[in-house]
Amino acid sequence: MEIKTVWAVYFSGTGTTEKVATRLAKSLAEQLGAQYRAHDYTTPAGRVELTFGPEELVVLGTPVYAGRVPNLMLPYLQSSVHGAHTLAVPVVLYGNRNFDDGLIELRNVLAANGFAPIAGAAVVGEHSFSKILGAGRPDGEDLELVDRLARETADKVKGLTAAPAQPVAVEGCDPIRPYYTPRDRHGEPIKDFLKAKPVTDPDKCVKCGLCARLCPMGAIDPEDVTQVVGKCIKCCACVKKCPMGAKYFDHEGYLYHQHELEDQYAGRRAPTKIFL
Ligand SMILES: Cc1cc2nc3c(=O)[nH]c(=O)nc-3n(C[C@H](O)[C@H](O)[C@H](O)COP(=O)(O)O)c2cc1C
Ligand code: SF4
Ligand code: SF4
Repeated sequence: MEIKTVWAVYFSGTGTTEKVATRLAKSLAEQLGAQYRAHDYTTPAGRVELTFGPEELVVLGTPVYAGRVPNLMLPYLQSSVHGAHTLAVPVVLYGNRNFDDGLIELRNVLAANGFAPIAGAAVVGEHSFSKILGAGRPDGEDLELVDRLARETADKVKGLTAAPAQPVAVEGCDPIRPYYTPRDRHGEPIKDFLKAKPVTDPDKCVKCGLCARLCPMGAIDPEDVTQVVGKCIKCCACVKKCPMGAKYFDHEGYLYHQHELEDQYAGRRAPTKIFL
Protein backbone atom coordinates (compact mmCIF):
# COMPACT_ATOMS: atom_id res chain seq x y z
CA MET A 1 0.00 0.00 0.00
CA GLU A 2 1.19 3.51 -0.69
CA ILE A 3 1.25 5.74 2.38
CA LYS A 4 1.72 9.47 1.86
CA THR A 5 1.66 10.66 5.50
CA VAL A 6 2.52 9.00 8.78
CA TRP A 7 1.04 10.69 11.85
CA ALA A 8 1.96 10.58 15.51
CA VAL A 9 -1.23 11.37 17.43
CA TYR A 10 -0.75 11.27 21.18
CA PHE A 11 -1.75 12.22 24.70
CA SER A 12 1.26 12.56 27.00
CA GLY A 13 1.28 14.16 30.44
CA THR A 14 4.90 13.50 31.32
CA GLY A 15 6.38 12.96 27.85
CA THR A 16 7.03 9.21 27.60
CA THR A 17 4.15 8.55 25.18
CA GLU A 18 5.24 11.50 23.07
CA LYS A 19 8.80 10.16 22.93
CA VAL A 20 7.74 6.71 21.72
CA ALA A 21 4.87 7.67 19.39
CA THR A 22 6.93 10.34 17.60
CA ARG A 23 9.99 8.11 17.27
CA LEU A 24 7.90 5.28 15.83
CA ALA A 25 5.99 7.52 13.43
CA LYS A 26 9.14 9.33 12.22
CA SER A 27 10.89 6.03 11.59
CA LEU A 28 7.87 4.62 9.74
CA ALA A 29 7.60 7.75 7.61
CA GLU A 30 11.26 7.48 6.66
CA GLN A 31 11.00 3.83 5.72
CA LEU A 32 7.77 4.31 3.74
CA GLY A 33 9.01 7.45 1.93
CA ALA A 34 6.10 9.37 3.47
CA GLN A 35 5.88 12.76 5.16
CA TYR A 36 5.72 12.89 8.97
CA ARG A 37 3.18 14.91 10.95
CA ALA A 38 2.22 15.06 14.61
CA HIS A 39 -0.88 15.98 16.58
CA ASP A 40 -0.80 16.33 20.36
CA TYR A 41 -4.19 15.99 22.07
CA THR A 42 -2.90 16.35 25.63
CA THR A 43 -4.46 19.74 26.32
CA PRO A 44 -8.13 20.60 25.71
CA ALA A 45 -7.15 22.81 22.73
CA GLY A 46 -5.70 19.72 21.01
CA ARG A 47 -8.87 17.69 21.30
CA VAL A 48 -10.33 18.63 17.93
CA GLU A 49 -12.10 16.50 15.33
CA LEU A 50 -9.53 14.45 13.36
CA THR A 51 -10.28 12.52 10.17
CA PHE A 52 -7.70 10.44 8.31
CA GLY A 53 -7.83 8.85 4.87
CA PRO A 54 -6.66 5.61 3.22
CA GLU A 55 -3.24 7.01 2.27
CA GLU A 56 -2.39 7.92 5.85
CA LEU A 57 -1.03 5.81 8.69
CA VAL A 58 -1.69 6.83 12.29
CA VAL A 59 0.46 5.93 15.30
CA LEU A 60 -2.00 6.55 18.14
CA GLY A 61 -0.36 6.85 21.54
CA THR A 62 -1.76 7.01 25.06
CA PRO A 63 -0.53 6.15 28.55
CA VAL A 64 -2.22 3.35 30.49
CA TYR A 65 -4.22 4.70 33.45
CA ALA A 66 -5.72 2.11 35.83
CA GLY A 67 -5.05 -0.67 33.32
CA ARG A 68 -6.99 1.01 30.53
CA VAL A 69 -7.10 3.97 28.14
CA PRO A 70 -7.42 7.06 30.45
CA ASN A 71 -11.16 7.15 31.10
CA LEU A 72 -11.53 10.89 30.57
CA MET A 73 -9.80 10.69 27.16
CA LEU A 74 -11.86 7.74 25.96
CA PRO A 75 -14.94 9.76 24.89
CA TYR A 76 -12.72 12.04 22.78
CA LEU A 77 -11.08 9.10 21.01
CA GLN A 78 -14.41 7.37 20.49
CA SER A 79 -16.26 10.38 19.13
CA SER A 80 -13.69 12.54 17.37
CA VAL A 81 -10.85 10.50 15.83
CA HIS A 82 -11.96 8.86 12.59
CA GLY A 83 -10.32 6.79 9.88
CA ALA A 84 -11.43 5.59 6.46
CA HIS A 85 -9.63 2.27 5.94
CA THR A 86 -6.68 4.04 7.57
CA LEU A 87 -3.80 1.88 8.79
CA ALA A 88 -3.08 2.41 12.49
CA VAL A 89 -0.56 1.39 15.14
CA PRO A 90 -1.94 1.67 18.70
CA VAL A 91 0.82 2.31 21.25
CA VAL A 92 0.46 2.46 25.02
CA LEU A 93 3.00 3.50 27.65
CA TYR A 94 2.78 1.89 31.08
CA GLY A 95 4.61 2.52 34.34
CA ASN A 96 6.26 -0.85 35.08
CA ARG A 97 3.15 -2.35 36.73
CA ASN A 98 0.98 -3.74 33.89
CA PHE A 99 -0.79 -2.53 30.78
CA ASP A 100 -3.71 -4.90 31.47
CA ASP A 101 -6.37 -4.05 28.83
CA GLY A 102 -5.04 -0.63 27.77
CA LEU A 103 -3.67 -1.78 24.42
CA ILE A 104 -6.58 -3.98 23.40
CA GLU A 105 -9.02 -1.23 24.37
CA LEU A 106 -7.17 1.32 22.23
CA ARG A 107 -6.99 -1.18 19.34
CA ASN A 108 -10.74 -1.79 19.59
CA VAL A 109 -11.58 1.92 19.66
CA LEU A 110 -9.51 2.43 16.52
CA ALA A 111 -11.07 -0.57 14.76
CA ALA A 112 -14.56 0.73 15.63
CA ASN A 113 -13.70 4.15 14.16
CA GLY A 114 -12.69 3.06 10.67
CA PHE A 115 -9.00 2.29 11.28
CA ALA A 116 -7.20 -0.97 10.48
CA PRO A 117 -4.80 -1.64 13.39
CA ILE A 118 -1.89 -3.55 11.79
CA ALA A 119 0.64 -3.54 14.65
CA GLY A 120 0.81 -2.41 18.27
CA ALA A 121 3.07 -1.92 21.25
CA ALA A 122 3.03 -1.65 25.03
CA VAL A 123 6.18 0.17 26.10
CA VAL A 124 7.39 0.85 29.65
CA GLY A 125 7.80 4.49 30.70
CA GLU A 126 8.73 6.04 34.02
CA HIS A 127 5.61 5.95 36.19
CA SER A 128 3.90 9.34 36.38
CA PHE A 129 3.65 9.08 40.19
CA SER A 130 7.29 8.21 40.80
CA LYS A 131 10.92 8.85 39.97
CA ILE A 132 12.05 5.31 40.76
CA LEU A 133 9.30 3.18 39.24
CA GLY A 134 10.29 2.51 35.64
CA ALA A 135 13.08 5.09 36.10
CA GLY A 136 14.83 5.96 32.85
CA ARG A 137 12.33 4.01 30.75
CA PRO A 138 11.88 3.87 27.86
CA ASP A 139 15.61 3.13 27.66
CA GLY A 140 17.89 1.87 24.87
CA GLU A 141 16.53 -1.66 25.07
CA ASP A 142 12.91 -0.45 24.84
CA LEU A 143 13.71 1.88 21.95
CA GLU A 144 15.45 -0.90 20.05
CA LEU A 145 12.16 -2.80 20.15
CA VAL A 146 10.31 0.32 19.01
CA ASP A 147 12.73 0.62 16.07
CA ARG A 148 12.23 -3.06 15.26
CA LEU A 149 8.48 -2.51 15.29
CA ALA A 150 8.93 0.36 12.83
CA ARG A 151 11.00 -1.79 10.44
CA GLU A 152 8.66 -4.78 10.58
CA THR A 153 5.52 -2.65 10.30
CA ALA A 154 6.97 -0.85 7.26
CA ASP A 155 7.69 -4.24 5.62
CA LYS A 156 4.14 -5.36 6.40
CA VAL A 157 2.65 -2.18 4.90
CA LYS A 158 4.72 -2.58 1.74
CA GLY A 159 3.32 -6.10 1.31
CA LEU A 160 -0.34 -5.06 1.69
CA THR A 161 -2.70 -4.41 -1.23
CA ALA A 162 -5.58 -3.25 1.00
CA ALA A 163 -6.22 -2.47 4.68
CA PRO A 164 -6.68 -5.84 6.45
CA ALA A 165 -10.16 -6.60 7.79
CA GLN A 166 -8.85 -8.30 10.96
CA PRO A 167 -7.10 -6.15 13.57
CA VAL A 168 -3.68 -7.21 14.85
CA ALA A 169 -3.80 -9.64 17.78
CA VAL A 170 -2.59 -7.99 21.01
CA GLU A 171 -2.43 -8.96 24.69
CA GLY A 172 -5.41 -8.17 26.93
CA CYS A 173 -8.96 -9.30 27.66
CA ASP A 174 -12.00 -8.70 25.52
CA PRO A 175 -14.55 -7.92 26.96
CA ILE A 176 -12.38 -5.29 28.64
CA ARG A 177 -11.98 -5.70 32.43
CA PRO A 178 -12.95 -2.98 34.95
CA TYR A 179 -10.45 -0.24 35.84
CA TYR A 180 -7.66 -1.23 38.23
CA THR A 181 -8.46 0.20 41.69
CA PRO A 182 -5.73 1.37 44.10
CA ARG A 183 -6.29 -0.53 47.37
CA ASP A 184 -4.91 -0.48 50.89
CA ARG A 185 -3.34 -3.43 52.74
CA HIS A 186 -6.76 -4.74 53.69
CA GLY A 187 -7.93 -4.79 50.08
CA GLU A 188 -10.16 -1.74 50.54
CA PRO A 189 -10.16 0.97 47.84
CA ILE A 190 -7.98 3.93 48.95
CA LYS A 191 -10.22 6.60 50.42
CA ASP A 192 -10.69 9.73 48.30
CA PHE A 193 -7.91 8.75 45.86
CA LEU A 194 -9.80 10.32 42.97
CA LYS A 195 -10.05 13.61 44.90
CA ALA A 196 -6.24 14.00 45.26
CA LYS A 197 -4.86 17.22 43.72
CA PRO A 198 -1.34 18.65 43.62
CA VAL A 199 -0.29 21.46 45.93
CA THR A 200 2.22 24.28 45.35
CA ASP A 201 5.25 25.27 47.41
CA PRO A 202 4.95 29.09 47.60
CA ASP A 203 8.69 29.44 48.30
CA LYS A 204 9.58 27.74 45.01
CA CYS A 205 6.80 28.85 42.62
CA VAL A 206 7.75 31.78 40.38
CA LYS A 207 4.21 32.09 38.95
CA CYS A 208 5.34 31.38 35.39
CA GLY A 209 1.95 29.80 34.59
CA LEU A 210 3.43 26.81 32.74
CA CYS A 211 1.54 24.27 34.85
CA ALA A 212 -1.80 25.92 34.02
CA ARG A 213 -0.97 25.91 30.29
CA LEU A 214 0.11 22.23 30.36
CA CYS A 215 -2.72 20.78 32.44
CA PRO A 216 -4.72 18.34 30.25
CA MET A 217 -7.88 19.12 32.19
CA GLY A 218 -7.44 22.91 32.22
CA ALA A 219 -7.84 22.39 35.97
CA ILE A 220 -5.25 24.87 37.30
CA ASP A 221 -6.37 28.48 37.71
CA PRO A 222 -3.98 30.59 35.57
CA GLU A 223 -4.64 33.61 37.81
CA ASP A 224 -3.68 31.68 40.95
CA VAL A 225 -1.80 28.46 40.16
CA THR A 226 -2.12 27.22 43.75
CA GLN A 227 -5.80 26.58 43.01
CA VAL A 228 -6.82 23.38 41.21
CA VAL A 229 -10.36 24.34 40.40
CA GLY A 230 -11.18 21.57 37.91
CA LYS A 231 -10.93 17.79 37.87
CA CYS A 232 -7.40 16.43 38.34
CA ILE A 233 -6.54 13.15 36.58
CA LYS A 234 -3.17 12.94 38.40
CA CYS A 235 -1.26 12.88 35.11
CA CYS A 236 1.64 14.63 36.92
CA ALA A 237 2.42 16.97 34.01
CA CYS A 238 2.44 19.91 36.44
CA VAL A 239 4.57 18.00 38.98
CA LYS A 240 7.22 16.71 36.59
CA LYS A 241 7.33 19.70 34.23
CA CYS A 242 7.36 22.56 36.75
CA PRO A 243 10.82 24.11 36.21
CA MET A 244 11.07 25.00 39.92
CA GLY A 245 9.94 21.66 41.35
CA ALA A 246 7.18 23.55 43.13
CA LYS A 247 4.26 21.15 42.55
CA TYR A 248 3.76 17.97 44.54
CA PHE A 249 1.10 15.73 46.05
CA ASP A 250 0.67 15.65 49.80
CA HIS A 251 -2.59 13.65 49.76
CA GLU A 252 -2.24 10.75 52.21
CA GLY A 253 -3.98 8.16 50.00
CA TYR A 254 -2.03 9.21 46.90
CA LEU A 255 1.32 8.91 48.73
CA TYR A 256 0.30 5.54 50.21
CA HIS A 257 -0.51 4.24 46.71
CA GLN A 258 2.72 5.65 45.27
CA HIS A 259 4.81 3.92 47.93
CA GLU A 260 2.88 0.64 47.57
CA LEU A 261 3.52 0.66 43.82
CA GLU A 262 7.19 1.43 44.37
CA ASP A 263 7.52 -1.34 46.98
CA GLN A 264 5.87 -3.89 44.72
CA TYR A 265 7.15 -3.01 41.27
CA ALA A 266 10.25 -0.78 41.36
CA GLY A 267 12.58 -3.75 41.85
CA ARG A 268 11.77 -5.45 38.58
CA ARG A 269 11.98 -4.77 34.87
CA ALA A 270 8.56 -5.06 33.22
CA PRO A 271 8.77 -5.87 29.51
CA THR A 272 8.13 -3.72 26.48
CA LYS A 273 6.08 -5.79 24.04
CA ILE A 274 5.46 -5.40 20.32
CA PHE A 275 2.69 -7.02 18.30
CA LEU A 276 2.64 -7.61 14.54
C1 LIG B 1 -3.76 8.03 36.91
C2 LIG B 1 -2.66 7.12 36.45
C3 LIG B 1 -2.87 5.75 36.42
C4 LIG B 1 -1.85 4.89 35.98
N1 LIG B 1 -2.09 3.56 35.92
C5 LIG B 1 -1.11 2.71 35.51
C6 LIG B 1 -1.35 1.30 35.43
O1 LIG B 1 -2.45 0.81 35.62
N2 LIG B 1 -0.29 0.49 35.12
C7 LIG B 1 0.95 0.99 34.88
O2 LIG B 1 1.87 0.21 34.67
N3 LIG B 1 1.20 2.34 34.86
C8 LIG B 1 0.18 3.20 35.17
N4 LIG B 1 0.40 4.55 35.17
C9 LIG B 1 1.71 5.05 34.72
C10 LIG B 1 1.70 5.56 33.27
O3 LIG B 1 1.06 4.65 32.42
C11 LIG B 1 3.14 5.75 32.77
O4 LIG B 1 3.87 6.51 33.68
C12 LIG B 1 3.25 6.40 31.40
O5 LIG B 1 4.59 6.27 30.97
C13 LIG B 1 2.87 7.86 31.43
O6 LIG B 1 2.85 8.37 30.11
P1 LIG B 1 3.19 9.93 29.78
O7 LIG B 1 4.63 10.13 30.17
O8 LIG B 1 2.99 10.02 28.31
O9 LIG B 1 2.26 10.76 30.58
C14 LIG B 1 -0.60 5.43 35.58
C15 LIG B 1 -0.39 6.82 35.61
C16 LIG B 1 -1.41 7.65 36.03
C17 LIG B 1 -1.19 9.13 36.01
S1 SF4 C 1 5.04 25.69 36.60
FE1 SF4 C 1 5.82 25.69 38.71
S2 SF4 C 1 6.80 27.69 38.95
FE2 SF4 C 1 5.48 27.84 37.14
S3 SF4 C 1 3.52 28.62 37.95
FE3 SF4 C 1 3.38 26.40 37.97
S4 SF4 C 1 4.02 25.78 40.03
FE4 SF4 C 1 4.70 27.89 39.71
S1 SF4 D 1 -3.54 19.42 38.06
FE1 SF4 D 1 -3.81 17.23 37.86
S2 SF4 D 1 -4.54 16.94 35.74
FE2 SF4 D 1 -3.65 19.00 35.87
S3 SF4 D 1 -1.50 18.76 35.23
FE3 SF4 D 1 -1.54 18.58 37.46
S4 SF4 D 1 -1.72 16.38 37.86
FE4 SF4 D 1 -2.31 16.71 35.71
